[in-house]
Amino acid sequence: MNNQKSLHNSQKTDSKERFTSKGFILSAIGSSVGLGNMWKFPYVTGKFGGAAFFLLFIICLIIVGLPILLAEMTIGRGGRGNASVSFFNLSGGSKYWGAFGLLSILTAFMIMSYYSVVAGWTLHYTVQSFTGLLFEEGSSYKEKFESFTSGYWPVLWQGIMMLFTGGVIVKGISGGIEKFNKILIPGFLIILLVLMFRSLTLPGAAEGASFFLKPDFSKLNAESALVALGHSFFSLSLGMGCMLTYGSYVKQTQSLGKATLAIGFGDLLYALIAGLVIFPTVFSYGLEPGEGVGLAFMALPAAFSQMSFGFFFGGLFFLLLAIAAFTSALSILEVPVSYAMHKWQWSRKKSAILVSILCFLVGIPSALSVGGVLGDFAPGGKTIFDWMDFITSYVLMPFGGLLVTLFTGYVWKKAGDEAGLKGFSYKAWIFLLRVVAPILIVCVFLYSVGLIQFT
Ligand code: PFF
Repeated sequence: MNNQKSLHNSQKTDSKERFTSKGFILSAIGSSVGLGNMWKFPYVTGKFGGAAFFLLFIICLIIVGLPILLAEMTIGRGGRGNASVSFFNLSGGSKYWGAFGLLSILTAFMIMSYYSVVAGWTLHYTVQSFTGLLFEEGSSYKEKFESFTSGYWPVLWQGIMMLFTGGVIVKGISGGIEKFNKILIPGFLIILLVLMFRSLTLPGAAEGASFFLKPDFSKLNAESALVALGHSFFSLSLGMGCMLTYGSYVKQTQSLGKATLAIGFGDLLYALIAGLVIFPTVFSYGLEPGEGVGLAFMALPAAFSQMSFGFFFGGLFFLLLAIAAFTSALSILEVPVSYAMHKWQWSRKKSAILVSILCFLVGIPSALSVGGVLGDFAPGGKTIFDWMDFITSYVLMPFGGLLVTLFTGYVWKKAGDEAGLKGFSYKAWIFLLRVVAPILIVCVFLYSVGLIQFT
């Protein structure tokens, strides 16, 4: 009787824990398109070479990002579980490969700790912009940003973001993650297009568009290539079991090759449009494109304040950032939640609530380290917030990606069947995974840990 009951329960959960084909693609695009595209991509592009950097990013995305994306989704579907379960099953029960699950949980917590903080800022700025408070005269936008981040409000906004994210994760795959992505991702594109139209019609917009689209290779250095590669991991949500976990909820009939192309194209398209929103605006108002993390929060409000209906366009812009952050945060949180459900047999509700609370707590030091009470604690010249970004983007994610390439290229022999690839496409995929991707990743890794020095 007990057995029958548990069989019944698990079947019931199973049918809810599946993506539809369209829902999967939109949710995976929702994961990849995030603060990485809208907040990080513009400022790293501004800093590391403009259009030439964008080109490098596209190359990294195609030759390293997409093969690993396909590999992650294939491992998740073939192994039928989170990172730990899938690697364990497909390696024939190796506990060493199974340990990858733990690494992905650690990475997810670290990313969430600063990602949810920036996501919280976007909520605050959305409210401030729509209500017009952001544009009240008195102090500069830099001072406003600093006075906001130096207090305790960021902790509250980060908590609100975690509350929303956890609330959707409780509802599961089809009733939660998929449902929200199906609404938010198309809505997001519409707002982005409205803003692109606005920014491209500003006086002097062409200069910004050409900074972003007309490559000048003399602006590049070796660091640009490595940052481009690291960013391609971050942007496609790779190397931490996220796409792998989403892959485990995909139907057997779904073409993973086509999904990979759709997600890669989606990520690139949103990055392109985000660049076409930000750079023309920045140039049109004579601002500095290499401003850094504050570009979106310090430079852009100055531009919106001079535009007619700037409070509205500014509000839309920050709302867009908030949506992008939210759909990505869902995929990050799902990694430890699915792990807890499997490992301790907890219900989805219990896992989502406990893990969200833990993520919130882990994020507090990051929230207080951008000019706040922990701002002066900066070992090695980096605050807690900077360290979390640095370790995840340039060490843990590339390392996780490396494990995925080695596993698919050398350990799991049946990957091609599960991925549905044959002939040339299979050979090209395996070559990229066995040779090209590992070499490039090791370069990023060595650079990140400071073994290669650039002058
Ligand atoms: N891809 C997201 C972005 O570009 O903002 C960030 C991200 C999401 C990283 C999910 C990692 C992840 F697992």
